[in-house]
Amino acid sequence: MTTEQSGSANEGLTGFAHVPVLLEEALELLDLQPGKRYVDVTAGAGGHLLRIAEKVASGDAQHPSVIGIDRDEQSLRTLATKVPAGVQLIHSNYEDIRSAISKYGINTISGGIIADLGVSSMQLDDPYRGFSFLRDGPLDMRMDASQVVTAAEIINNLSEFDLAEIIFRYGEERHSRLIARNIVKARPLKTTLELAEIVSRSLPRNKKKGTARDTSHPATRTFQAIRIAVNTELSSLERFLNEAIDLLEPGARIVVITFHSLEDRLVKQIFKRASIDCVCPPRQPVCTCDHKSKLLIITRKPVIAEEKEVVANIRSRSAKLRAGEKLG
Ligand SMILES: C[S@@+](CC[C@H](N)C(=O)[O-])C[C@H]1O[C@@H](n2cnc3c(N)ncnc32)[C@H](O)[C@@H]1O
Repeated sequence: MTTEQSGSANEGLTGFAHVPVLLEEALELLDLQPGKRYVDVTAGAGGHLLRIAEKVASGDAQHPSVIGIDRDEQSLRTLATKVPAGVQLIHSNYEDIRSAISKYGINTISGGIIADLGVSSMQLDDPYRGFSFLRDGPLDMRMDASQVVTAAEIINNLSEFDLAEIIFRYGEERHSRLIARNIVKARPLKTTLELAEIVSRSLPRNKKKGTARDTSHPATRTFQAIRIAVNTELSSLERFLNEAIDLLEPGARIVVITFHSLEDRLVKQIFKRASIDCVCPPRQPVCTCDHKSKLLIITRKPVIAEEKEVVANIRSRSAKLRAGEKLG
């Protein structure tokens, strides 16, 4: 498994502003054209969005040429002070992209849609958000603070079996059962460092310290798993990708940057399905599905960060970018 962006042992200690990943590559693949409309569904600190706006923003907030969506209202409030005219910011889950943009009378996207998945440095660096295993904070991990379910609810209420399932499925953690057993024994848990300590204690000695190649903190996989469960990330991503491909006008593009293999696999599968003419079972002699390809995959292999970007920004080391263009 490739590691999640929060996987570095240095995670959460930088305190730096969010540095956008694969920025130039993403902008080039979006093929920005003035007069067309673009949506950044993970606006965050605006790293990608502000550059898109620089090139194509026009109109006003009611007739925007650039739309930024984010689930995190706090990030949007900060970003709102920086965006030029012609940009509209919307607080929404990207899985609801269709209804979010329809409020502005928009039903199709002429230019493109970009998603840069996962958490931002601001979210990771703020201990009160509960994403960090290096800074103590409440077990929260909600990207949207108005959501009811927190990490504490999941960790303190789920059965040992269900916890192990989550840690195994969303963290691809081989020691999930032992971790779940130790969590249940220590409940109730309140803070991120309590959880990180229990995970470290549950791993065999040789897994506790990263090797030269893998500097992951031992709690990386478990934190990733709980975060995915709290924010129902994979089902949101699946729904978003299908909606986004449908919303694109012919020639418009979709660019998605992922940070771990579960996300990348999903993007690859959905792009592939959208790019083929028949989805009938392989042994079926005659096609009955009526499926038509609607996406041209532009990146046969995912684009990854160059060495110099990885050195400058450790978050980029696990990033993979895939892009497609809507067919006519
Ligand atoms: C990696 S950051 C994006 C950073 C941004 N591209 C930049 O350069 O500043 C991911 C952002 O996506 C948001 N996000 C994650 N899941 C989301 C979802 N389902 N719907 C909307 N926003 C989401 C997070 O709140 C976070 O702000």
